[in-house]
Amino acid sequence: MKVLVFGGAGYIGSHVCKYLAKHGHEITVFDNLSTGHAEAVCWGNLVQQDILNPEAIVDCFRQHGPFDLVMHFCAKSLVGESVTSPEIYYRNNVVGTLNILDAMLATAHQRIIFSSTAAVYGNPQQSLIDERHPRLPINPYGQSKKMVEVMLLDYANAHGLDSVSLRYFNACGADPEADIGESHQPETHLIPNVLKSLVNPTNNVLKIFGDQYPTADGTCIRDYIHVNDLAQAHLLAGEFLFNHSGAFAFNLGNGSGFSVMDVVKAASQVTGREIDYQIEAPRAGDPPILVANAHQAQQQLGWKAQYTSLEAIIETAWRWHQNENF
Ligand code: UFG
Repeated sequence: MKVLVFGGAGYIGSHVCKYLAKHGHEITVFDNLSTGHAEAVCWGNLVQQDILNPEAIVDCFRQHGPFDLVMHFCAKSLVGESVTSPEIYYRNNVVGTLNILDAMLATAHQRIIFSSTAAVYGNPQQSLIDERHPRLPINPYGQSKKMVEVMLLDYANAHGLDSVSLRYFNACGADPEADIGESHQPETHLIPNVLKSLVNPTNNVLKIFGDQYPTADGTCIRDYIHVNDLAQAHLLAGEFLFNHSGAFAFNLGNGSGFSVMDVVKAASQVTGREIDYQIEAPRAGDPPILVANAHQAQQQLGWKAQYTSLEAIIETAWRWHQNENF
């Protein structure tokens, strides 16, 4: 397959590119490198352009296409920032995606895999969230992703554009070869912050946001899913679109919840080191528990996560963070 990957220089996008290349697919990456890394584009050529430039997108389709499949990872994704600067989120995530969809129509491209998020659900109404759970986002980041899902449904009905939205729970880990990994600036995610506190303790004291939640140990529970398991799901979702027409959405998670303290303990076990931390006030907008029911992806895509233990996930992240090279 020939695949155009928007946001292929970022954390999840680069892992998907590596996975696609390993499976014999040909890749072009479109990325403005605002949060991605040129060093992470190793499995295809890079078109350094912005999704807010509609002509550049059309040019890319015309010059490097036609493509069998489009994948779209470009997004602003900091929940806190989305609350204080919603315009950035609606412009990049909604207008940027509209530009991609219109360029696809203009150049007769028909299939897209879209990076959505568990944030479209808002506050969970049940402990295991399936795809029928109401989508009531509680921040502009989640709203922007939900808006794109709505657009994809309307484009499927009006224009026959086929799509799969993949709703990630907590993406984490790194490729076991440790050539690519998670590197955000600033880093807000739990597992990288735990490991950074070990690599460089003076500048990175681990903060735990809240220990009075209604959970067994008082810290938040999340569903951690390895980035290479996400990569596998993207390829399966792409193949699915060759036999299915319409707009589809699947949760991607392990279906098991781990608390912040479980993560700290597992990281301590993997690294063989004590982890110091400070308890801080809860972070605005953090639901106590978010765990996926991912049966639909398993049944309809044939997806099966390979990394089911926290230790196995953290081990790959630890390998990366010890030699983080970009
Ligand atoms: N946490 C800490 N200390 C840190 C970082 C995080 O205690 O340094 C806690 C958070 O408060 C939360 C848990 O660890 O309870 C997980 O936090 P992350 O930032 O790693 O992940 P989130 O669950 O906040 O966010 C993820 C995705 C978002 C998506 C969201 C869906 O990264 O893109 O799930 O709710 F929006």
